[in-house]
Amino acid sequence: MTTECRIAAIGKHVGEVVTVHGWVYNTRSSGKLHFVILRDGTGLLQCIISKNDVSDEVFLAASELTQESSVRVSGVVREDKRAPGGYEMHVHDLHVVQLAEDYPIKLKEHGVEFLMDNRHLWLRTPRQASIMRIRHTVVKACRDFLDDRGFLLVDAPILTPAACEGTTTLFETDYFGEKAYLSQSGQLYNEANAMAFGKVYCFGPTFRAEKSKTRRHLVEFWMVEPEIAFCNLEECMQLQEEMITYIVCSVLERNARDLETLERDTEALRRVVPPFPRISYDEAVELLRSKGMDFTWGEDFGAPDETVISQAFDKPVFVHHYPAQCKAFYMQPDPDRPELVLSADLLASEGYGEIIGGGQRIHDRVVLEQRMNEHALPEDPYRWYVDLRRYGSVPHSGFGLGIERTVAWICGTQHVREVIPYPRLLNRIYP
Ligand code: 4AD
Ligand code: MG
Repeated sequence: MTTECRIAAIGKHVGEVVTVHGWVYNTRSSGKLHFVILRDGTGLLQCIISKNDVSDEVFLAASELTQESSVRVSGVVREDKRAPGGYEMHVHDLHVVQLAEDYPIKLKEHGVEFLMDNRHLWLRTPRQASIMRIRHTVVKACRDFLDDRGFLLVDAPILTPAACEGTTTLFETDYFGEKAYLSQSGQLYNEANAMAFGKVYCFGPTFRAEKSKTRRHLVEFWMVEPEIAFCNLEECMQLQEEMITYIVCSVLERNARDLETLERDTEALRRVVPPFPRISYDEAVELLRSKGMDFTWGEDFGAPDETVISQAFDKPVFVHHYPAQCKAFYMQPDPDRPELVLSADLLASEGYGEIIGGGQRIHDRVVLEQRMNEHALPEDPYRWYVDLRRYGSVPHSGFGLGIERTVAWICGTQHVREVIPYPRLLNRIYP
C-alpha cells in the first residue's frame, strides 16, 4: 500500500511513492517513454512511464490510453519546474479503470454551442475547473464574511405565492390548483427574518424568465441576500463594500493559480479596496450624456449604460438614489425628494456592470400600502408582508449579490454562462 494523494498536494510527497486516481488529459510517446498528463479535479500531473521501470503489460496499457480514460497510477514524485504544476511522477504501476471511448472535446478550440451541449464534459477542462474553484471561494467568502459578523442563515422558500421583483420575469407553476411562482429573490422573507433575528441572510437559487439574450442574464442564478434591521442605506453600502473587498481578497489569496490559468489581470482586482466611489443616479445620467449617450431620466440603466458608467472608475462604483419609477415597490422614498428612493446598485469595475442591487425598505405601513396600490399588487398574498409593519417595524436595509455576475467579473469571463455549472438560458435547459 502506498499513500493516496490528490494532485494539488503532490508537492508534499517529493521523493515518496504515492498513488493517484485520475483521468487522462493528454498523452505523448517517444519509443521507450510514455508521457501521460493526468487530471484529478485538483490539478494536472505529468506521469512518466518508462519501459525499463514497468512490466510489459503496464507499458502496453499506457500506450493504448485514450483521452479521459480513468486510471490509478503509483510512482515516485519528483520536482520538475517544466512540468505542469511543477512536479512529475515516475510510474511503477498503472491500472486502467475504464478505457474511454472517443472523447468529443479535443484539445483544440471548439465552438461555444458545441461546448454548451457538452457542458457535462466541458467542466473537466482546466479553464472550467479554475472557474468552478473560484466560484467555490466566492460562495465560501460570502458565508464566512456574514457568519463572522453575526448574521444568521435563514433560508427563504423557492415556491412562493407572490412576486418580489415585478411580474414580467415570473415563472408560474401550478400549486395544487393554485398559482405559485418560483422565487425571484428571498428578500421579502428576509425582511420577516430580520425582524426575528436582527441580521440574517439567505443563499439559494433564484429564477427569472429573462426573455433576452445577454452576457449577464441567466434564467436560474444564485443570490446571497443579507438583510439588517435598524440599518440605513449608507450603512448598507458600507457592508457591501467590505464584503466585496473580502471576497476579492479571498480569491486573490486562495486561487492565484486559477487566476493565472484564466490569464486574469490581478492588478485590477488588487485595486478593489474601500472606499468605493458613490454617485447619485442624477450624476450617472449626466455622466452618460457627457459620453454622448442618449438617456431618458427615469429609466433604469441597460447593460450598455452600466458598461459606460463602470468604465469611468477603476473600482466598483455605487449608483444610489434611483427614481422610484424604475425600482421595485418596497423601496423607501427619499424624504427630501419623494420621486427618488433610497436604493443603491453596485456596478463592478472594468465595464462589468451591476453585481449588487439593494437599499432601504419601506418601514411605514401606510407608505407601503400606497406603493403596493400604485403597483397594482394583490392584497392577499402580501398580507404577511404588510404585517411586519404593524409589529415593531424598524428602518431596515439589505441587498442581493448575484453570484454569477460576481464570479464572471472576478474571473474576467465574457459571459455568465461559463461560471455556473449548468446554465439555464433562453433556449437552453440541456444538459
Ligand atoms: O437587482 P436585483 O433584481 O435585486 C433583488 O432581487 C433584490 N430583491 C435583492 C435584495 O435586495 N435582497 O438582483 C440582485 C442581483 C443583481 O445585482 C445581479 O447581480 C443578480 O442579482 N441578477 C442576475 N444574475 C444573473 N442573471 C439574472 N437574470 C439576474 N438578475 C439579477
Ligand atoms: Mg437590479
